[in-house]
Amino acid sequence: MERLEAALEKARQDRQVLQDVPAPQEQEPEIVTPVSDPWSEIKEIKITNRTARKNRINTISQGKEAGPYDLLRSRALRVMGENGWATLAITSPNKTCGKTTVCANLAFSLARQSDLKIMVLDLDLRRPAMHKLLASRPKNSLHEVLRDKHPAKSAFVRVGENLAFGLNNSPAPNPSELLQAKLTKKILSEIRETYKPDLMIFDMPPMLVSDDNVGFLPIVDCGLLIGAADSTTISQLDICEKELSELTNVLGVVLNKCRFSDNDAGYDYEYY
Ligand SMILES: Nc1ncnc2c1ncn2[C@@H]1O[C@H](COP(=O)(O)OP(=O)(O)OP(=O)(O)O)[C@@H](O)[C@H]1O
Ligand SMILES: [Mg+2]
Repeated sequence: MERLEAALEKARQDRQVLQDVPAPQEQEPEIVTPVSDPWSEIKEIKITNRTARKNRINTISQGKEAGPYDLLRSRALRVMGENGWATLAITSPNKTCGKTTVCANLAFSLARQSDLKIMVLDLDLRRPAMHKLLASRPKNSLHEVLRDKHPAKSAFVRVGENLAFGLNNSPAPNPSELLQAKLTKKILSEIRETYKPDLMIFDMPPMLVSDDNVGFLPIVDCGLLIGAADSTTISQLDICEKELSELTNVLGVVLNKCRFSDNDAGYDYEYY
């Protein structure tokens, strides 16, 4: 009998212990605000086959014509990766050497690596042309964004998930001053901060035509010099390569429009 009472007493005590445990508090449902991906807010465009063919965009998909640009991509990625460089300016001694064409092809080639986010900015502000190459006019111009008149996304278009272009639909009034303005640098860092591209490529003006590159190239990690076999002289290439090396790191020199090159894209290149 004593054992029975002792067992009942123990059971009572155990129940008491359980009752003393505070009841779990009703948790307020957590309100999670969805964080929108800034890339998804950029207007998406499609490049038609006709536009690609007409404007020599050969790297949207893999193939024989993309091969040489893919090689350029892989070498650029290797050298830039080894040096921790993330921003690349593409320039040339004189005009129409093929800067915009190389810029776009390199960007599309890079973007086929889906783990990379690539951003191209048209900073040839006297004769902007990337919008023509893509057959797409932005709502506002990048030069207005750099003056803080409009949000960045209003001058951007996106191709696929990981490639964005900052475009102009008109020339900028004072390109040289704009390219070296503190506000421009601030807005460019904000763009980098917001979109976090792995690589940012700048389509620049020619070096021998204006001083636009001088104030801007020092803030860029490296530069690629494009010469045209049919119009750039060796001495122009030499002068510009030297000047480029004083302003930033030289990633390499591309000789474009080679009629007798070993590849179909019509260019050869050299790296340092
Ligand atoms: N490898 C090539 N072979 C033949 N033509 C080319 C080649 N690359 C580019 N072009 C053509 O040369 C012209 C100038 O090219 P692009 O606009 O890319 O040069 P650019 O250096 O950006 O010129 P700009 O100085 O006017 O900005 C275009 O008609 C383009 O299609
Ligand atoms: Mg151009």
